[in-house]
Amino acid sequence: MKSFFKRYTPLQIAIHIYGWSALVLLLIDFFTGNLTANPIQALEQRTGRHAITLLVLSLACTPLNNLFGWRELIKRRRALGLYAFLYATIHVLIFIDLDYGLAWSLIVQTIIEKPYIVVGVLSFLMLVPLAFTSFDIWKKRLGKNWKRLHQLIYLIAPLVALHYAWGKKGDFFRLQGEIIRPLIYASIIIIFLIMRLPQVKKALASARDRIVVLFRKREPQPKVDAA
Ligand code: HEM
Repeated sequence: MKSFFKRYTPLQIAIHIYGWSALVLLLIDFFTGNLTANPIQALEQRTGRHAITLLVLSLACTPLNNLFGWRELIKRRRALGLYAFLYATIHVLIFIDLDYGLAWSLIVQTIIEKPYIVVGVLSFLMLVPLAFTSFDIWKKRLGKNWKRLHQLIYLIAPLVALHYAWGKKGDFFRLQGEIIRPLIYASIIIIFLIMRLPQVKKALASARDRIVVLFRKREPQPKVDAA
């Protein structure tokens, strides 16, 4: 047990527990008939929400490292991103198979008719290359292009938030209906994206340095022997 905790950090353990337990709970609820009156819709919604949550968490790693200097977050981005992709894939498979029974012409018709689904499809298609190239071997192979490719996340995250908000019934301007939750996700995404702008990054880094200096000054200084 001791060696387990030496090998994995608490953050790593927490991420994997979230990643798998959400899926296990979903399967338990599905097989015990513990979903809503519309189980397929419930599955679609829950997998979609896990996907966007994990995507937002992966997006949070870089700005939070810049702000708090918590370097481990950078190492955990990949796991969070891959879990987001896993849930997005299950979400899409549920849509294609359970919801539409692989009726491709109906699927295409729905995609064309509902703009929020077009946005979902676009974001999923962009997630695919990111997931497959997230491993070190691809980082080496693609060189500078790897970073360029992975910057797609700045486009994908707002698109997913749009997909979420657009699919909901509600009044955007009066903040009524089911629009609040998607708006919270969208606001968090916007904050994290702003925190990545070079000027903002610089300002945050200098604020962090000032806080560190302030704390060091407050720490009791060791007494120096006069002799
Ligand atoms: C081929 C791509 C996609 C299709 C066809 C698709 C389809 C759908 C559909 C039909 C719904 C509405 C479910 C309902 O309320 O009845 C939905 C909702 C949602 N989708 Fe997608 N989606 C796609 C991609 C994605 C991706 C890539 C993400 C996230 C990474 C995502 C996240 C969500 C979220 C958060 C919701 C709202 C869940 C809720 O109502 O609580 N979707 N999607």
